[in-house]
Amino acid sequence: MESLRIKSLFSSLVLFVLVSCPTLSSAASLGINYGQLGDNLPQPTDVIPLINSIGATKAKLYDANPQILSAFANTGIEFMVAIGNNLLSSLSDPQQALTWVKSNVQTYLPATKITGIMVGNEVLTLNNAEWSNNLVPAMKSVYAALVSLGLDKSINVTTAHSLDIMESTYPPSAGAFKQDYKVYMQAILSFHVQTGSPFYINMYPFFAYKSSPSEIDINYVLFEPNNGFVDPTTKLVYDNMLFAQIDAVYSAITLLGYKGVSICESETGWPSKGDADEVGATLDNAAKYNSNLIKMVAENKVTPLGSDLDIYIFALFNEDMKPGPTSERNFGLFQPDKMPVYSVRLTDGITVSSSAVKRYNSLILLFFCIASIAIL
Ligand SMILES: *[C@@H]1O[C@H](CO)[C@@H](O)[C@H](O)[C@H]1NC(C)=O
Repeated sequence: MESLRIKSLFSSLVLFVLVSCPTLSSAASLGINYGQLGDNLPQPTDVIPLINSIGATKAKLYDANPQILSAFANTGIEFMVAIGNNLLSSLSDPQQALTWVKSNVQTYLPATKITGIMVGNEVLTLNNAEWSNNLVPAMKSVYAALVSLGLDKSINVTTAHSLDIMESTYPPSAGAFKQDYKVYMQAILSFHVQTGSPFYINMYPFFAYKSSPSEIDINYVLFEPNNGFVDPTTKLVYDNMLFAQIDAVYSAITLLGYKGVSICESETGWPSKGDADEVGATLDNAAKYNSNLIKMVAENKVTPLGSDLDIYIFALFNEDMKPGPTSERNFGLFQPDKMPVYSVRLTDGITVSSSAVKRYNSLILLFFCIASIAIL
């Protein structure tokens, strides 16, 4: 009797480990935004080792640059290509969307691993009625093009939002979208449910800190030890702003009735330099923000409400042609000459590439899988 119970308990444990084996390692993933607004950036082939060195497995473009997509053939790096806002109205036409997908995506497959198409960037908050009205039609036309080419299962269609779509983010349980965008959000979220694609949003705790540095604990925005706060409704503890923002979006999506749509962070990062009034834009803070973030992704951390970290860091390079304050040109992990702007630290005092940590994690997992099979 007793031994039978132990045996069945043991087999369920083994079964659990077996079932979790393939999923555990793929829960979180690190991506990098490969922006090209610089007149001094390296050749795409020279960029491959830089992306590998930070342990990123995915890259996101702001267009479908042919040189980059060709150069990354057979590298295994997953690409998210983008359709600019100025193309939304023409690509809402199914025929034009099909032509675009054939020449900007299909041509590079399967050598270059394109797994996502970002249709427009921060469209709703730019308050351009033509763009906003063509956003969902363009997403639908692009998706229809993928279906007709048999590519809809291997490529997700999505769009990236600004955090400005939120009416409130605090506390996270009270997260809600601005009323003005509600109709658009419903159409976008229905599209995600129908096609199984994730919701992408750009999140910069840096901007929140910059606008009220005296009210926000710098440790809370940099993922450093701090007391955090308890959400009065859920009683969950938040000790970093990024998680609070992600969960606010989660609440906003749930409020509209679309719980279950996954949330990904299409951009987040911290500048290593800024103008005199850009408080917090320092080398040390940027190193802490991005190192801690990469470490959390490698450890498969989830937010208090259970959202995985699916993150694209902004950005790969400092881009000298970006307009705006000094910080805008200093979000990069690398200088245009390929030197790291700062080293990305995974633990205090040790500098390792996060791919090493991932390899280590996979080894442990592999060991458990083999052990379970042997015992069975
Ligand atoms: C598309 O998004 C879904 C939901 O996040 C994800 O499970 C799936 O792996 C994605 N597909 C690709 C090809 O990346």
